Amino acid sequence: MSEPVQTPQTFPTRIFSGIQPSGGLTLGNYLGALKRFVQKQDEGIETIYCLVDMHAITVWQDPAKLRQQTREAAAGFIAAGIDPVRSILFNQSQVSAHVELAWIFNTVARMGWMSRMTQFKDKAGKNSENVSLGLFAYPALMAADILAYKATHVPVGEDQKQHIELTRDIAAKFNNDYGVNFFPITEPVIEGAATRVMSLRDGTKKMSKSDPSDQSRINLTDDADTIAKKFRKAKTDSEPLPSALDGLKDRPDARNLVNIYAALADMTPQAVIAEYAGAQFGTFKPALADLAVAKLSPITTKMSDLMQDPAEIDRILGEGAARADAIARPIVDQVYDIIGMIRSRH
Ligand code: AMP
Ligand code: TRP
Repeated sequence: MSEPVQTPQTFPTRIFSGIQPSGGLTLGNYLGALKRFVQKQDEGIETIYCLVDMHAITVWQDPAKLRQQTREAAAGFIAAGIDPVRSILFNQSQVSAHVELAWIFNTVARMGWMSRMTQFKDKAGKNSENVSLGLFAYPALMAADILAYKATHVPVGEDQKQHIELTRDIAAKFNNDYGVNFFPITEPVIEGAATRVMSLRDGTKKMSKSDPSDQSRINLTDDADTIAKKFRKAKTDSEPLPSALDGLKDRPDARNLVNIYAALADMTPQAVIAEYAGAQFGTFKPALADLAVAKLSPITTKMSDLMQDPAEIDRILGEGAARADAIARPIVDQVYDIIGMIRSRH
C-alpha cells in the first residue's frame, strides 16, 4: 500500500471491492480486479470482496442466469486465489446493511453529482428516459458497499475511478452535514499494467462482459483452444513491435496486447517491448496466447471443478455474508443514530 489515508482521524486499512455477476468474468475483470484482489489478500491486509447482485439488477437479469453467474463468479474468485477464510467473500443481497445505507446516501448525494457519472451516461445512451431508476442511483449503492465497512482502499479498474470520487464526496458531505468524522475518505487503488484492458476487436473500447461480440473478450470459462484462437485473431496493425514504449502511442490494439502480456507475466510493458522489439505479430500473438493459456487454464479448470458443487459455493457465500454483516451492521446502526432515527426495537 503506497500512501496513508488522508483523513484527520486515521481509519485502519481495510480493502473492499465488488464485481457484478451480470455475465461471465472476463480477462479485464481478472487483470484489472481479481488478480489484484488476490495480491492484497496475500499481503495480509483485511480484504472484503462482494458479488454485487443488487447492482447487477439495475439492468434486466434473467433470475436463473443471475443465480448461475453469481455462483460462477464466486467459483472464479476462489479459483483465482481468493481464500474465503482469509478474505470475506459474499453476495451483496445477503447483507441488508448495503441497501439501508444506500437509501441514506440517496439523500446525501445531489442530482447534479449523479448526472455527471459517465458510466450512467454510457449505459443509458439515448435511452435515458427508459432505463431503471436503480441505474441512476447505482453509484450511491456502490458508496454504501464501501462505506458500510469504512473501507479505506478500493482496488478497481480505471473505469471505476469516478465512482470512487463520488464515494469520497458522499463521505465528506455526510461527515460535514452531521458534524462527525465517521466515514473515511476512501482511496481508489488503480495500479499495474492492465487497469484498462481493451476489446480484442477494437483497441479503443473497453473489454466488457456485455459486448455483443464474444470475439472481443477472453472469458475465464474459455478453453485453451478458444483463448489461443481469440488472441490469434485479435485486431492489430501490420507494423512490427517498436523498440520503445513511445512507439505504441498511436497503436491502441498493439498497446493493448503488450499491456495484457505484461500484466499476465508480471512484467512492465517496457520489459515486454525490450524482449519483443522488432517482432512481428505472427511471433508475438502465439507467445501471448501460450502465456494466457498457461496462466488462465488452471483457473478455468478449478472453476469448473468448484461448479460441480453449487451447495458448497452457497455455503461459502452464506458464511462470508455472516462475517460481513457482523462488521457492517454496527456501522449502519451508528449511522441511524447519527441521523436521528429512533431505534427502540432491541
Ligand atoms: P464489472 O465487471 O463492471 O463489475 O467490473 C468489476 C471490476 O473489474 C471493476 O474493478 C472494473 O474496473 C474491473 N474491470 C472491468 N472491465 C475491465 C477492463 N476491461 N479492464 C480493466 N478492469 C476492468
Ligand atoms: N461498479 C463496479 C463495477 O461495475 C462494481 C462495484 C459495486 C464495486 N460496488 C463496488 C466496485 C464497490 C468496488 C467497490 O465495476
